Amino acid sequence: MSKIELRDVTMSFGDFKAVENIDLEIEDGEYITVLGPSGCGKTTLIKVISGIWKPTRGKVFVDGEDVTDVPLEDRDTGYVFQNIALFPNMDIFDNVGYSPRVKDRGREEAVEVSRGYLELVRMLDKSGMLPGELSGGEQQKTAIARALASGSGILLLDEPLSALDARVRVELRYEIRRLVKELGITVVHVTHDQEEAMSVSDRIILMRAGTIHAIGTPLEMYREPASIFAAYFIGETNLLECTVVEKSKTGKTTVRLRGGRNVKAMRSQLKEGDAAVISVRPEHVYPAKAGLKAKVENVVFMGTYWRVRTVSETRDYVDYNVSSSDKVPNVGDKVNLVFNKKATRVFKRPEIGLTEAIKLE
Ligand SMILES: Nc1ncnc2c1ncn2[C@@H]1O[C@H](COP(=O)(O)OP(=O)(O)OP(=O)(O)O)[C@@H](O)[C@H]1O
Ligand SMILES: [Mg+2]
Repeated sequence: MSKIELRDVTMSFGDFKAVENIDLEIEDGEYITVLGPSGCGKTTLIKVISGIWKPTRGKVFVDGEDVTDVPLEDRDTGYVFQNIALFPNMDIFDNVGYSPRVKDRGREEAVEVSRGYLELVRMLDKSGMLPGELSGGEQQKTAIARALASGSGILLLDEPLSALDARVRVELRYEIRRLVKELGITVVHVTHDQEEAMSVSDRIILMRAGTIHAIGTPLEMYREPASIFAAYFIGETNLLECTVVEKSKTGKTTVRLRGGRNVKAMRSQLKEGDAAVISVRPEHVYPAKAGLKAKVENVVFMGTYWRVRTVSETRDYVDYNVSSSDKVPNVGDKVNLVFNKKATRVFKRPEIGLTEAIKLE
């Protein structure tokens, strides 16, 4: 059992608050990923959870017990650091077997555990080498094996797969998820990779400027983002300034884009006349016979689809996708675009302006 709770946690460095007023409950066995722009406090949050740093204010509980003052070495926590910290004088096999050995699980068990996890990360053939003799990716895989081998109830992963090539990264993320679910381990995993966050998490935490900006399941975060920033940061989206011109009895919203065109959208809390922003993801924008007039500015092959960037009559960029087997437009072509109404979101236009609202620092 490893339930983690943070209550009103703030971590300051001098006057600077790297994380502020964090309240968070992570369920036993839950797989949480933490996303957010560089410098928003992800590593700081994970270090506070681990006991590496005692928060300036607030408390950390594990299974209801106050562990705020308990350092990492006295906790039951596996950790993969953002800047990998392997024991430089120990070969890979002994690095991975370190925790089972010091926990007195016996030499034989340590050997077995090391072997098992090295096999999992496909590093068994490098067992005898020193960390300094490995590539960055190999060091990361060793660090993951070591953290898993610790047999801890909590696993903290700070960008553990960032140095790996795409195929291994994808394989390993599912292996890790499968394993921790099998063992009932609670995971907090910091990543910059949105697809990784979407595909392995029970819930995603989106951080911004030291605070938790939004939290939810991957599907909630993607389909019903709580804010313009969440829509913008998780996945890709088109954002167009507009004004609410009509609300139906059921709350459905019609907005007027810059230039005067009306677009039907989903329910919103806004009222007629409100300044708004409509969000629609590229995969929900389609070329049609009639619609928002736009001119193709750029076409990029993405592998499974083409990304078409247009400048619309509203003077906004509007991006959409074309399946890789379909005909793609040429730069300069004129297209008419429609939005899948069901996939639109309408937000109140922020007073600070759209550009400020989605700024990354
Ligand atoms: N030991 C420290 N002393 C002073 N400031 C620090 C310290 N550690 C972190 N910070 C500051 O706290 C802020 C958050 O840092 P943190 O490492 O948590 O960001 P992050 O979200 O993990 O970023 P990245 O995605 O780049 O890893 C940064 O502005 C950083 O400079
Ligand atoms: Mg970090």
